[in-house]
Amino acid sequence: MRICVIGTGYVGLVAGACLAEMGNTVTCVDNDEDKLTALRGGLIPIYEPGLEELVRSNTRDGRLSFTDDLASSVREAEITFIAVGTPQSEDGAADLHFVLGVAGEIGRALATLPPQERSYKVIVDKSTVPVGTAARVRSVIASHYDGPLDVVSNPEFLKQGAAVDNFMKPDRVVIGADSKEAAALMQDLYAPFMRTGHPVIIMDVKSAELTKYAANCFLALKISYANEIANLCESLGADCESVRAGVGADPRIGSRFLFPGLGYGGSCFPKDVRALIKTAHDLGAGCSLLEAADRVNFGQRDLFINKVIQRFADSTESGSAGQHRNLTGLTFAVWGLSFKPNTDDLRMAPSLTIIPALLKQGARVKAYDPKALLTARAYFGDAITYTQSAYEALEGADALLLLTEWNEFRRPDFRRIKELLKQPLIFDGRNQYDPARLSSLGFDYYCLGRPGTALSRREPL
Ligand SMILES: NC(=O)c1ccc[n+]([C@@H]2O[C@H](COP(=O)([O-])OP(=O)(O)OC[C@H]3O[C@@H](n4cnc5c(N)ncnc54)[C@H](O)[C@@H]3O)[C@@H](O)[C@H]2O)c1
Repeated sequence: MRICVIGTGYVGLVAGACLAEMGNTVTCVDNDEDKLTALRGGLIPIYEPGLEELVRSNTRDGRLSFTDDLASSVREAEITFIAVGTPQSEDGAADLHFVLGVAGEIGRALATLPPQERSYKVIVDKSTVPVGTAARVRSVIASHYDGPLDVVSNPEFLKQGAAVDNFMKPDRVVIGADSKEAAALMQDLYAPFMRTGHPVIIMDVKSAELTKYAANCFLALKISYANEIANLCESLGADCESVRAGVGADPRIGSRFLFPGLGYGGSCFPKDVRALIKTAHDLGAGCSLLEAADRVNFGQRDLFINKVIQRFADSTESGSAGQHRNLTGLTFAVWGLSFKPNTDDLRMAPSLTIIPALLKQGARVKAYDPKALLTARAYFGDAITYTQSAYEALEGADALLLLTEWNEFRRPDFRRIKELLKQPLIFDGRNQYDPARLSSLGFDYYCLGRPGTALSRREPL
């Protein structure tokens, strides 16, 4: 099939490359010239395991191409995916101006087709959009073009860091279509990805739009629930890791997304939770469950920062309360900047809250991340020092802060860490290490929700 994918970001590039891998002819459209130049030269502007090889081989074989010419790409395609960003707007709602802007461009492009070339087209909302968006996309296109087409909702469930694998072997594909013809075409497109028997779930458009929010918000709730229980563990002297194991073994609950830590970040969960809250408010309905999840989530960052501040306040023998909250003269080694492992994406990452809070308190930061150093520069500029290895960040630092659980941080050389730090002090935002072991190695170790870590003041900074 001839496919056009508009928006060549984390979702669009993965979708385009994977669809090309199955033999389709795919044109990826973007309006970011730098991105297009890089992609045409075989350079992938984001880090996503397996993506570079896929893009290179499909480009080489002529099935995948990159352009800024939206009009011709849409005119030639049977199926056009809209995969542009839907960031959070000021009031929490999803900002649809990219999506609706693209819909207008699609309409204008199709309107230039001569009548004999007006074949049936399917336009697919792949971006995460609120209920009713497909209808709005349709009416924007229809204001320019009256040829045969359907607008379909096909929300994306891939996880950054495993996006290629998820797209190639999805656990389900959701298609919201109000016409049989559109549903059949989409089913046909996805058939090669579904050979392991996972379902293609066909439903009406509105239900598909809501399914994406309902799924993301449930996962966000689960993470916040785990964090709430961990905070209780910390106050009660229980071990949240044991509680997690005991709870997660119940198949009705499941062990995934139950890991306490610094909470969720990224370009999806925070904005999707807020967008669904906004939808509920617009309908006059309450959304207290999701409001609590959002509050607990961002409270985890304050909790962690306060642990650091309090630890140094406690170690200062004299001075006023004002001095106690001051980290001036201290240097912190930060391991992990991306919002989760295996991505270079920092959008809404805990590091974006925690590092500025440390800097505001007068501290210096030396940071290392296996893949996100370049992206991080766009956020922190010269305000922090970037190092080329995890151990280099530790040299002369007063403490190590673990913010993202990349594999290479899971079993580090603790003896070396101890030698390089000024004092053996670790704040672990991801509960990666064994408190008893670290204590036996002479570390002062703070994590979340485990005995002996109850430096837990939760007042906001
Ligand atoms: N990132 C994820 O893991 C993920 C997962 C599932 C769903 N989603 C959803 O998918 C959508 C896209 O997310 P993303 O992370 O890929 O975004 P992104 O910001 O990485 O990519 C969006 C791309 O669209 C391009 N663009 C914007 N306006 C354009 C226009 N008029 N013409 C052509 N290109 C244009 C941008 O230049 C950019 O390259 C969002 O709605 C998001 O919520 C994201």
